[in-house]
Amino acid sequence: MIQLNNVTKNFAGKQAVKGLNLTIPDGKIFGFLGPNGAGKSTTIKMMTGILPIDEGSITLNGMDISKQPMDVKRVIGYVPDRSDIFLRLKGIEYLNFMADVFNIPSDVREEKITYLTKSFGIYDALGDHIQTYSHGMKQKIVVSGVLLHDPDIWILDEPLTGLDPKSSFTLKEMMREHANKGKIVFFSTHVLEVVEQLCDEVAIINNGQVQFQGAMSEMRQQFKEDDNLERLFLELTQNE
Ligand SMILES: Nc1ncnc2c1ncn2[C@@H]1O[C@H](COP(=O)(O)OP(=O)(O)OP(=O)(O)O)[C@@H](O)[C@H]1O
Ligand SMILES: [Mg+2]
Repeated sequence: MIQLNNVTKNFAGKQAVKGLNLTIPDGKIFGFLGPNGAGKSTTIKMMTGILPIDEGSITLNGMDISKQPMDVKRVIGYVPDRSDIFLRLKGIEYLNFMADVFNIPSDVREEKITYLTKSFGIYDALGDHIQTYSHGMKQKIVVSGVLLHDPDIWILDEPLTGLDPKSSFTLKEMMREHANKGKIVFFSTHVLEVVEQLCDEVAIINNGQVQFQGAMSEMRQQFKEDDNLERLFLELTQNE
């Protein structure tokens, strides 16, 4: 379970996240939906220990990210919103580096690297430098690197952006399998359709505040009943 308690983040006087409360249960695909600038990435960066939390606290599997950052980082897999990292490395060098960081034995790593990169169709590009990869290929190598150590909790910031339909399908299947094992898949998106297709539960964020959290089945109803949510709904569908 992931729990955010009254989490706040300020940037130079501007509140990007305002007293956010969220509970993300095990065994679910959880969608974090909101328009551009809503505070999704900022929240995710606090959940993963990249940004310090100004007020409030976040626990993952009962561990406080501010107090036990290393313990938390061992159990999470984080895919950032930008995949422009380690551009000078070859794909295979990057994956071996990730495997080293997480102490993955060499026989296991080879099997996993082959499985993941073949699933995403980048196996043949592993000998090339990441800077020569397309945006989608960079995204896929980052996702492969993150999943290598089989993290319990997946935290993915707009993971499907830039993926072609086949890879998008593959990743969605993996997300479903992972949740079915009783693990957490938490991901952000500004696309309502993706959430409707994929999620068990959703939180809608706007202006740094949670507007709605609940099961997918409850979301549509809320959109109909709440004027603010209806306006947000229009914004989110226009973004598509
Ligand atoms: N490093 C920063 N310095 C100053 N302001 C920031 C910083 N990072 C984010 N912000 C501001 O915080 C707000 C939330 O940004 P955030 O990146 O969390 O939004 P988002 O929901 O991820 O949007 P998107 O869908 O575009 O990725 C925005 O107003 C943004 O300008
Ligand atoms: Mg973002």
